[in-house]
Amino acid sequence: MIIENTVEGVKRQVKAWKSEGLSIGLVPTMGYLHEGHKSLIDRAVSENDRVVVSVFVNPIQFAPTEDLESYPRDFDADCRLCEDAKASLVFHPDADEMYDGDFSTFVDMDNVTKELCGKSRPTHFRGVCTVVNKLFNIAMPDRAYFGQKDAQQLAVIRRMVRDLNMNVEIVGCPIIREADGLAKSSRNTYLSDEERKAALVLSKAIFKGKEMLESGISDGEEVLEQMKEIILSSPLAKIDYVEMVKWDSIEIHHTVDCPVLVAIAVYIGRTRLIDNFIFEV
Ligand code: PAF
Repeated sequence: MIIENTVEGVKRQVKAWKSEGLSIGLVPTMGYLHEGHKSLIDRAVSENDRVVVSVFVNPIQFAPTEDLESYPRDFDADCRLCEDAKASLVFHPDADEMYDGDFSTFVDMDNVTKELCGKSRPTHFRGVCTVVNKLFNIAMPDRAYFGQKDAQQLAVIRRMVRDLNMNVEIVGCPIIREADGLAKSSRNTYLSDEERKAALVLSKAIFKGKEMLESGISDGEEVLEQMKEIILSSPLAKIDYVEMVKWDSIEIHHTVDCPVLVAIAVYIGRTRLIDNFIFEV
């Protein structure tokens, strides 16, 4: 497995693979890899001749008040996981390699970024779209793999690729959970033992909401109310949002008459966790 820190190094390697007619899968990550990331890499390895995993904690998608400095990092462990999963190349640039001192071009998006995480983190998706666009230009993938855990991010990237006529297929992959239901996340590492137990209200609320929709309830308000009640049963939980939106456009929509995304963001202590499910009528 190749480890590459420079943009030019990745471009050179990718061009060599392309000239041999090999297909390329890209798995963009911020590192501290877990089973969720591994499932993306496994899928990419099964569908492409070569797989590039980027490990880059992208500073421009964090607001000044957020956890950029404390975001967990363990590059050696990340490399071991990538090697075991049979990735071909790990791209691990530093911030200066990705952003020149006078960097001034950003990819911004209306509509799809306005609700859910975009409302709580107004500059977040501009940072995500910009870095993902750069990673596409660097790795030139045929396919790129994103987890449904960040469902709004997946919808945003699909929209960016459609709107800007990008030549890459976006593959969404299912949420991977711990045995007790908690969605895997690098940020779970912030939780104390007590908070880790309290964090189960997220998946409990998600499972309850899904069960209600599957039983035929189509009133979104009723479902969201029940979910909020479950979350607030923990004194450590503070709701950022509990919402139902149209899955493709991320517009608020409380009637289940089209594919919907039910998404939640909840603070457990100081840690903000997200979870969701998609329901197709
Ligand atoms: O989902 C993430 O880890 C990040 O938002 C991404 C897509 C790697 C961009 O930095």
